[in-house]
Parts: sequence; structure tokens; C-alpha cells
Amino acid sequence: MFTQLKQLPADPILGLSVKFKADSNANKIDLGAGIYKDETGHTPVLACVKAAEQFRVDKEPSKAYLGSAGSAVFNEKMTALILGEHKVIAENRIRTVSTPGGTGALRVAGEFIKTCTPGATIWVSNPTWANHQGVFTAAGLNVKTYPYYDYENNCLDFEGMLAALKQVPKGDAVLLHACCHNPSGMDLSKEQWQQVADVAKQVGFMPVVDMAYQGFGQDLDADAYGLRLMADTVEQMIICSSCSKNFGLYRERIGACSVIGQSAISADIISSVLLSVVRVLYSMPPAHGAAIVETILSSTELTNQWHGELKEMRDRINGMRQLLVDKLASNGVTRDFSFITSQNGMFSFLGIDKAQVQQLQDKYSIYIVGSSRISLAGISSDNVDYLTKSIAKIL
Ligand code: LMR
Repeated sequence: MFTQLKQLPADPILGLSVKFKADSNANKIDLGAGIYKDETGHTPVLACVKAAEQFRVDKEPSKAYLGSAGSAVFNEKMTALILGEHKVIAENRIRTVSTPGGTGALRVAGEFIKTCTPGATIWVSNPTWANHQGVFTAAGLNVKTYPYYDYENNCLDFEGMLAALKQVPKGDAVLLHACCHNPSGMDLSKEQWQQVADVAKQVGFMPVVDMAYQGFGQDLDADAYGLRLMADTVEQMIICSSCSKNFGLYRERIGACSVIGQSAISADIISSVLLSVVRVLYSMPPAHGAAIVETILSSTELTNQWHGELKEMRDRINGMRQLLVDKLASNGVTRDFSFITSQNGMFSFLGIDKAQVQQLQDKYSIYIVGSSRISLAGISSDNVDYLTKSIAKIL
């Protein structure tokens, strides 16, 4: 059976990390995967996470199964983190299950949509995270795209987006990035969210909001503005969230899939379907990451500490956005890269072609995704000169 298998190409994002590790160039720079790094290039364990882990070591009462929804406390805390004091919580219309990371949440969402509507189509932004297409296709959905980024002018193609969304057939799903759009860093304004929410209501498509970077744009509440507005406007929606980036829990694999129904009764039915989807996929989610997050969110002191650490990560990345633009100019690049400072989160496109991306990798050991997406978190005041001089050379 295995002899018929063909070698597949490495994952466009994760494959870069493997190549980067194997590179012996002392000047190498990793701007590939979306993973936070400090000024020294290290991805730290947050102090609030360490404290929560210690608390769990001392106090965790059992390792018995928690069930397919995972920890009820985590699910409740995550729902509040995502939605704030939203009416859908008071109306008992939302059900959340813990998932193995944000990717797990997306796969659960995909399977859930397929259960509701076999053969359903989900529309994703062009461009979108490289794994969205694969996750939804694997779940049995058809995947189509709507315009999103204007590569010519390095801005949002909002007219194109809105026109396409107006044509989406009723009952199809539409994936929206809550904040810090991956890969472009280009987010919707408040007014644009309002227009998208109005179209969702008029057309009757199912919004599926992916929130993998809450807290990396402006702050925890501002980054959730669009999805909260959407929940004000439509009766049903799906939210996939992740604790990988904002809690720095990447390898612990913890996220959540939340589904809002029209009533408490329909939310109970939704919950039963979510549990059956999870049961056959992975039975139940890993517990450690959820235990850390619920411990932090159950303590005012740890929550405040987390807010401070999250702000530090966000401020460092924003500082690197400005530094990159300044250094490109001072190291002889005449092209205007100022758009990078008005984008959000970990990513922006450099706007160079695939051959130039490859040149950066082969000649200078600078690793960026083939689409020219850079992770700003990999830049530091130590490597920015080498980086910008190298970009100047390939330009
Ligand atoms: C990314 O987009 O780089 C991250 O979400 C990591 C991943 O799993 O692709």
C-alpha cells in the first residue's frame, strides 16, 4: 500500500522553520512562521504562564477525562474573552468547546458546517492563511475565494470584497479574520465591519470568524470589535479562536470553537452536534493549555500580569514595523514601504516576487514565506541592518 505514495512538498510555513534550523549561517533570520520572538530571537514562556503552571502542579486534583467539550471553566472564560459582556451570553445562545489549537477549532468548524449542510461552500479571503484551504477541504467543504488585498497599492480591496460577498449564495459560509489579517496585516475599519455585517444579514451567509491574534492588533477588546458587531447583527455565527499567540502556548495546542445559535434550545442542539464531531475526530482536547489559560483568567493578579506581557509583545512588534521602514529608507531602498506601519499583528507582505524571496533565502539566509509574507516578530535591533541591506541588494 505504501509503495504507491509520492513524496509531498514541505508545508510552505512549517517547512521554512525546518530549513532555518538546519542553516549554519550565523546571520540567519527567521521571518517565517508567526511566532513571537523577543529582542534576542527567543520565544519565551510568559511569566504568567509559568506561575499558572506552578499552581497547577501544586493544585491539580486529577488527570481523569474531561469529556469532548474540554474544561467547562476554560470554555466559559474563553467565551467572555472573545465576546466580552455580549447579549448572546446572557441569552444563553453560545456554546464553546476547547480544541487542539486554532487549527483544531477550524477543523471542528468545518466538520460542523458539513454536518449542517453536506457539500457546503466556504469563502475565504484572497489571500488567506496558507492552511485554511487545506483544513476546510479536508473537512469536506468546497473552498472559494473573495478579493481582499490590493497588491498593487498595498491596501484593502474593500470594494471588491463587498461586491463579492453580496454575490455569496444564502447558506454558504464566509471566513473572516477578526484582526491582524494573516498574511497581509490589513484589517477592516469599524465602518467596513458594519458594512460586512449588514451584507451577512441581507445575504444570509454564515460568518465564520477566525481570531488567532487577539491582543496583537490594538488590544483585547478593540481586536474583537468586528466579531462582536457581527454577533450583534446576525443570529448565527461561528468563532474559532486560539491561545497559541496571545498566551504564547504554541506547542500546548489550545484554542476554542464557539457557535452562536438563534435560541438557547438551538444552542443545546448545536452543542450535541459539536460533541459528536469532536468525539470522532480526537475524542477530547488536550487539557494542559486550557488549565493554564483558565488559571490565568480566574485570577485578577495573573490576568493583569498577562495583559502587561501581551502589551509588551504587541509594542515590540509595532516598534519593529517602524524600525524596518526607517532602516529600509536609511539603507538605500527608495521604494515606499510606509504601508507596513499602518498594518496590524505579526505579518505584512514585502511585495517582492518569488525569485527575490528565494534569493533572500539562498544568498542571505533570510527566511520568509513564498508569498513575501514576513513575520515582523523575527526582526530585532540586532538583525535589522543585515535584513534591510540584504533587501536593498535583492531589490
Ligand atoms: C503562521 O501563519 O505562521 C502560524 O499560524 C503558524 C502556522 O501554523 O502556520
